[in-house]
Amino acid sequence: MNKNGVTPVIEMRGISKSFPGVRALNDVSFAVEPGEVHALVGENGAGKSTLIKILSGVYQPDAGQILLNGATKSFTHPVQSLKGGISVIYQEFSLLPERTVAQNIFLGREPTRRGIIDYAAMRAETRRVLDLFGAGTRVDPNAIVADLDVATQQMVEIAKAISLNAKVVVMDEPTAALNEAECEVLFETVDRLRERGTAIIYITHRMREVTRLANRVTVLKDGEVAAQFDHVPKPGDIVRAMVGRDIADFYAPFATENEIGAKVLSVRNGQNDRVSNINFDLSAGEILGFAGIQGAGRVALAMALFGEHPFTSGKVRLNGKTVAFTNPRDAIQAGIGLLPGDRKGEGLVLMQSVRDNGMLTARAFDTLLSSHKANQYADLASMDSLLDAMEVKASSYDQDIGNLSGGNQQKAIVARWLALKPKVLIFIEPTRGIDVNAKAGIYHLMRDLARGGAAVMMISSDLPEVIGAADRILVMRAGTIVDEFTHGATEHDIMLAATGETEVAA
Ligand SMILES: Nc1ncnc2c1ncn2[C@@H]1O[C@H](COP(=O)(O)OP(=O)(O)OP(=O)(O)O)[C@@H](O)[C@H]1O
Ligand SMILES: [Mg+2]
Repeated sequence: MNKNGVTPVIEMRGISKSFPGVRALNDVSFAVEPGEVHALVGENGAGKSTLIKILSGVYQPDAGQILLNGATKSFTHPVQSLKGGISVIYQEFSLLPERTVAQNIFLGREPTRRGIIDYAAMRAETRRVLDLFGAGTRVDPNAIVADLDVATQQMVEIAKAISLNAKVVVMDEPTAALNEAECEVLFETVDRLRERGTAIIYITHRMREVTRLANRVTVLKDGEVAAQFDHVPKPGDIVRAMVGRDIADFYAPFATENEIGAKVLSVRNGQNDRVSNINFDLSAGEILGFAGIQGAGRVALAMALFGEHPFTSGKVRLNGKTVAFTNPRDAIQAGIGLLPGDRKGEGLVLMQSVRDNGMLTARAFDTLLSSHKANQYADLASMDSLLDAMEVKASSYDQDIGNLSGGNQQKAIVARWLALKPKVLIFIEPTRGIDVNAKAGIYHLMRDLARGGAAVMMISSDLPEVIGAADRILVMRAGTIVDEFTHGATEHDIMLAATGETEVAA
């Protein structure tokens, strides 16, 4: 029992865990009560995911205890923690894409009648569980999971957790792949779970989610508890506990007129089966943000420019020359870089060292260039200094990248593309999963890149980020550009443009 006379559903006491060369957790204690949303925050590599993996039986702690409803437990396999009522929703979903929602929820424990799977009962139970958190109208039990958007797939994961009678639901960066509207749906789901008395451990790098959702907050730093709040502190207080100081210059300053240089990229009437009537210009020194809801065509536009899924009509000019890339190789050769948001899609070579991963793209790029243009920056020393600048946390840059924390993997990829010094660099969700301190680092690097004469396109679903980091913002909707804002635009204005809603007077 704690001081309020409530027995926590989960209590972790004095947990320590080391990996070769790293002390991931040192004497961490932490408890969650029923009906509580406990935010777990901290910089990349602070130990959040490791703590969760210990809770769920993926890893064994070197020291410490786990108590479930006051009784000591030791989980040596995730199945045991699941049976104990702990469901972890990982960022990489564990759903089977080709099966229906109901089949996924009942995987391996299908109800039967006279030895035959009772599909009607499965569907009815699925609907009941979805209704418990208000998702009954949004999710069809018969829908194939692959056809659902990410937010809806996440709801299926949550429904599965509820149907397994989860007392504790752990969400590790659940909004990383969601847009604004989908985030709101998730927040409401979390509210409903809390009302039902479920305990929720919520890992995030976004301070406004902590403010919106949490009852209590634990801050990890370098594997130790740096602060624990029994209320929701001001974002500044959390950041200070995470980083150990204030972050004064979170966003880099905007470009001034004399920094914005010659027109680098211009697109006229760009069109293919996914986007239409694309018209915009981009200058050296400029960071151009692209806002819009998921499916609005922002990524499709990036893929068209990158030659991955080219325009079928219209005109693209790069440094005044008409270009038409039919594959990414040609686009890269002409000086266009693209940093995809999907870490796995990026082909991170998990068995290679951090440094080699950073070098990988640079080397591939080098071989595309004629020898007299060979990139002097693609050498080890400058890759190391880029990795330093990004504050990639690794015991050494020779460490396998697969063992880095999620956010540190992302930082290594950013470093890898920065090493190419392209003329146009397209960032897709550049700071997904990255901690506040490193985010600030990325905004400053983007600005440095722009100051060095590059043109930057930034596609992001994080509106405060687009507003804070971009000099100019284009809003896309239904495959085309519908609006343009200069800095000073509000989230509200951009959301209205992105959704096509007109404001209704209250
Ligand atoms: N299997 C492993 N082998 C070696 N080191 C590991 C392993 N798993 C984690 N680590 C190290 O433990 C530390 C904590 O990592 P963890 O993944 O828990 O961080 P995190 O707080 O979840 O970070 P992020 O916000 O980036 O996801 C890091 O230094 C990481 O490199
Ligand atoms: Mg993590």
